[in-house]
Amino acid sequence: MGLSSQKLGWVFLLCFVVFCGYKNGVVEASHKVYMHLQSQNAVDIKKVHRTGYHFQPPQHWMNDPNGPMYYKGLYHLFYQYNPKGAVWGNIVWAHSVSKDMINWKPLKPAIYPSKSFDQFGTWSGSATILPGNKPAILYTGIVDEKQTQVQNLAYPKDYNDPYLQEWVKPDFNPIAIGDTPWVNTSAFRDPTTAWLGRDGHWRMLVGSKKRRRGLVYLYRSRDFVDWVKAKHPLHTAPQTGMWECPDFFPVQAQGKTGLDTSVIGENVKHVLKVSLDETRYEYYTVGTYYPDKDRFIPDPNSVDGWAGLRYDYGNFYASKTFFDPSKNRRVLWGWSNESDVSPDDSEIKGWSGIQAIPRKIWLHSNGKQVMQWPIEELEAIRENKVELNNHKLNIGEKIEVKGITAAQADVEVTFSFKSLDKAESFDPSWADYDAQKLCQVRGSTIQGGLGPFGLATLASTNLEEFTPVSFRVFKDHDKYKVLMCSDATLSTLRNEPKMYKPSFAGFVDVDLTVEKKLSLRSLIDHSVVESFGEGGKTCITSRVYPTLAIYDKAHLFAFNNGTEAITIETLNAWSMDNPKMN
Ligand code: FRU
Repeated sequence: MGLSSQKLGWVFLLCFVVFCGYKNGVVEASHKVYMHLQSQNAVDIKKVHRTGYHFQPPQHWMNDPNGPMYYKGLYHLFYQYNPKGAVWGNIVWAHSVSKDMINWKPLKPAIYPSKSFDQFGTWSGSATILPGNKPAILYTGIVDEKQTQVQNLAYPKDYNDPYLQEWVKPDFNPIAIGDTPWVNTSAFRDPTTAWLGRDGHWRMLVGSKKRRRGLVYLYRSRDFVDWVKAKHPLHTAPQTGMWECPDFFPVQAQGKTGLDTSVIGENVKHVLKVSLDETRYEYYTVGTYYPDKDRFIPDPNSVDGWAGLRYDYGNFYASKTFFDPSKNRRVLWGWSNESDVSPDDSEIKGWSGIQAIPRKIWLHSNGKQVMQWPIEELEAIRENKVELNNHKLNIGEKIEVKGITAAQADVEVTFSFKSLDKAESFDPSWADYDAQKLCQVRGSTIQGGLGPFGLATLASTNLEEFTPVSFRVFKDHDKYKVLMCSDATLSTLRNEPKMYKPSFAGFVDVDLTVEKKLSLRSLIDHSVVESFGEGGKTCITSRVYPTLAIYDKAHLFAFNNGTEAITIETLNAWSMDNPKMN
């Protein structure tokens, strides 16, 4: 195939960059489509459940975070956005910049449908920083009404503009099409950040499926312009359905320092995360990347698919990490969608979707799972600290944490207990329950032995409404199982049949015989409770819509609903300020 002159020009430019140092109908992306609502402008923005310090645009629909990166002193966040309405549709890459990932300044959309290769949509993708500090974006373009998907390249018009406001989409796009008969072109999307191999070739992944086998296609390129699909995918797993928004990155086997996406070597493991369209949850595996064969093999106990590990056991999807060279850390962004699922809710609210607080992510020293913690910059907006130390909670006791704005707060607490003797026995009939089902049947209002204890967040005065985030310990033969629940069952008095009030939960991999303590941090923000168990081993994000526990009528309690007495060793809580938010 001959190269057009523009393409040649680009090849030249990129070769230079690269060689100085070394790319409505049935919608497969299962966002519900409401044709009659998708271009209906918000008339009134309902404020009550809007968040104060979580990332949000002023109005309308937002989904996936796209192309996060650090460039010339600024963090960039792009995101899937509907400029015309509060339900999914008309998707563009909206764009904001920040110095601290907490205060945000909005810019105009960076990428939007305008060319034959993206005229029906500009869907998710990633940023790669090419040698010479030159950012490039790879994203999915929708080319027709059948939602045929291709991958495109965009680059900044002016590298001197730290805001990166103008993006050029060269006419040689698309750079990858499903050009072999077995590629399902309506399930072929969300290119990853590319990494550079020792052979001087770039690699990137594209999420897909073959019948119900989920997979990530691997593409290689010498110049970031011409991309060739490798014979085999980097990784696949049967019966998992479409793999959306893949993310593939190196982590230190021992250590919290983040690694640039191209790093390989001895003390390095890799993480592959996919967002499963069938469950709308995300799963990751930890394993080894073999660069010579371009294969990723998960570690023996790191399972693919629904039984696997999740970054977050709640509302958290389409996430993406990036390497932040200014602080040598890897940062995770994830979309937390609304739970009040009816389109009428979004239309009435005039907005839909938030981003979870960005999290630093690293591999636990046990090598089995990743750890996550809110970025340290969040601490700068903490105010009015209140403390509670060495406070005992007997059976059925609770204590109010007073002196903070409980609807917009950050709270860190460590609970300790003297013995494990009262842990309730794990009923064999629960054996095939997952954590969520277990939390549903053994919720935080049902008295246990050791637990449930935890925080009652977004609570009304008499607990008509509250969202408990709690621990409950079970004894299963000679092992202890720790369940962490973030239970929305009683979060709101609203009771429409469609209202989704899940008992989100995950197990916490911790050995209580070593230390009889459990720690919890919850970021509470009007309609979101984002919780981190045991320093970020198990994370759960719940979206909730209280009717009584709003603004200054919201309360925060610590409670114990078990028969074993619990001590609040330390509790620190803060009101959270309102950063500049778009
Ligand atoms: C994930 C997703 C992606 C797609 C985008 C469209 O939520 O379905 O697969 O690129 O959203 O907005």
